[in-house]
Amino acid sequence: ASQEFTGNLKREVEKLFDASLRITVPDGTSVETEVAASLPGKPGDYQCNNAMGLWSVIKGKGTQFRGPPAVGQAISKNLPASEMVETCSVAGPGFVNLVLSSKWMAKSIEKMLIDGIDTWAPTLPVKRAVVDFSSPNIAKEMHVGHLRSTIIGDTLARMLEYSKVEILRRNHVGDWGTQFGMLLEYLFEKFPDTESVTETAIGDLQTFYKKSKTKFDEDPDFKEKAQKAVVRLQGGDPIYRKAWAKICEISRTEFAKVYQRLKVELEEKGESFYNPYIANVIGELDSKGLIEESEGARVIFLEGFNIPLMVVKSDGGFKYASTDLTALWYRLNEEKAEWIVYVTDVGQQQHFNMFFKAARKAGWLPDSDKTYPRVDHVGFGLVLGDDGKRFRTRSSDVVRLVDLLDEAKTRSKTALIERGKDKEWTPEELDQTAEAVGYGAVKYADLKNNRLTNYTFNFDQMLSDKGNTAVYLLYAHARICSIIRKSGKDIDKLKKTEKLALDHPEERALGLHLLRFAETVEEACSNLLPNVLCHYLYDLSERYTSFYSIHQVIGSPEEASRLLLCEATAVVMRKCFHLLGITPVYKI
Ligand code: ARG
Repeated sequence: ASQEFTGNLKREVEKLFDASLRITVPDGTSVETEVAASLPGKPGDYQCNNAMGLWSVIKGKGTQFRGPPAVGQAISKNLPASEMVETCSVAGPGFVNLVLSSKWMAKSIEKMLIDGIDTWAPTLPVKRAVVDFSSPNIAKEMHVGHLRSTIIGDTLARMLEYSKVEILRRNHVGDWGTQFGMLLEYLFEKFPDTESVTETAIGDLQTFYKKSKTKFDEDPDFKEKAQKAVVRLQGGDPIYRKAWAKICEISRTEFAKVYQRLKVELEEKGESFYNPYIANVIGELDSKGLIEESEGARVIFLEGFNIPLMVVKSDGGFKYASTDLTALWYRLNEEKAEWIVYVTDVGQQQHFNMFFKAARKAGWLPDSDKTYPRVDHVGFGLVLGDDGKRFRTRSSDVVRLVDLLDEAKTRSKTALIERGKDKEWTPEELDQTAEAVGYGAVKYADLKNNRLTNYTFNFDQMLSDKGNTAVYLLYAHARICSIIRKSGKDIDKLKKTEKLALDHPEERALGLHLLRFAETVEEACSNLLPNVLCHYLYDLSERYTSFYSIHQVIGSPEEASRLLLCEATAVVMRKCFHLLGITPVYKI
């Protein structure tokens, strides 16, 4: 049968084995089909490992089979005819090894080149999801932790968007905490005429924050006024509201600079947005009997935690958790999201586990993980400096993100100038490449590690053109593009007129890796692990190098086919870059 490639190679192979298992053991055992990509150096491209499991289910029940190898043989024999399959054989105790047809592989890649890589996009079981990421706090520093959240969250959003999920990119900024009491009171003290409050008047908000904090800690009178200010703000006093809005606006302008540089899109729905809904949501939880009094506060006791989740303080104020419960309620009920993903440092894990648990108790979420509606806390580790301690810059204890990005760009520009690119390129080209490489390096260095581990911020390492870095990968892509350019051939014409052949082992290995793109994205999405995609991308460039170092492209009898293979590699690399939020470069 003609098998149209829908993108997920592993799933296609699974379908074939599913059909075979049903024929092999008709009275539907509950055994799930187990298919895995074969390890390098092992026979076959995919392996089905069901023979032994099936055997243990059917043995002694009058089966015709005489052990796992025979079950394996039957699985292999009963595999439906498909143009995907070259051969199928059995090894050892019943491992069924499937070799894909190189012809079919080549045809599927040719088709992608014509129809576009979006035809390979995975399909996930959700229509709409929220990714809650970046989420800095107004007037406080936007630190490297927020940078990680921004980078990781953006990549997750991009991968899910590619997989046809509508993503609500939410910036859950901290714009409603008790810190506003002291900020506002300090503001009024400095500027009794609130109309005159401008950006310049407040100056550097972080310094302003620090000064008001010092006063708050040292001056009991001020402290009392600050506490009253919160009440007036939350009660809607117009003067307080106006001053609050001003402070938020100044912060917002600062944050926007970082987002703009990183080309990250976000929609702000800060903590204050949910304020009007909190009372009702707490009321609902109360009517369900979840809320108890404890030392004047109102809390939810949760099994497995030694502290309760505090929802209302003794003075009647709401907490971080009350807002998060309300935001979750809103996202599920008003925004109809089926999956909500929160990206913060692992330090907040307990907070998320606790309010997730409260939501399950309230019946808002199913009891088990990975069933929908689903919530996930995507935690990440610390950013460390070379000294192994929390990352700080030489001059100050706060790392200004904008400075960090500037330095990445400056360094990559210097490296390009050292290679004489300023003489070859226009100033715009030089600038754009420096930006793509510099920012790309910062992003990739963060994303390539398992997000849960701490990672060491090191410019020299991330900007090196050797090893697993964005620079190396961007250059690899640019080199492929330059080969295609040098051939002088019109690649769009070749796509329509020429055939791709995967006759040599290196060509075939590269082709197989290309076909595994979609299943990789799907895995990265379902486990929320961007490093899976980074790993894939690095492997891809290694496979390409193995191919290119052995086989001549330009001027060889296989030129047309090999140019198509180069183009397919470049297309998949570009899609990876796109999903990782990295701008590709075409010249080096
Ligand atoms: N503003 C918080 C912080 O800076 C992060 C908020 C994360 N999102 C959430 N829904 N709790 O630590």
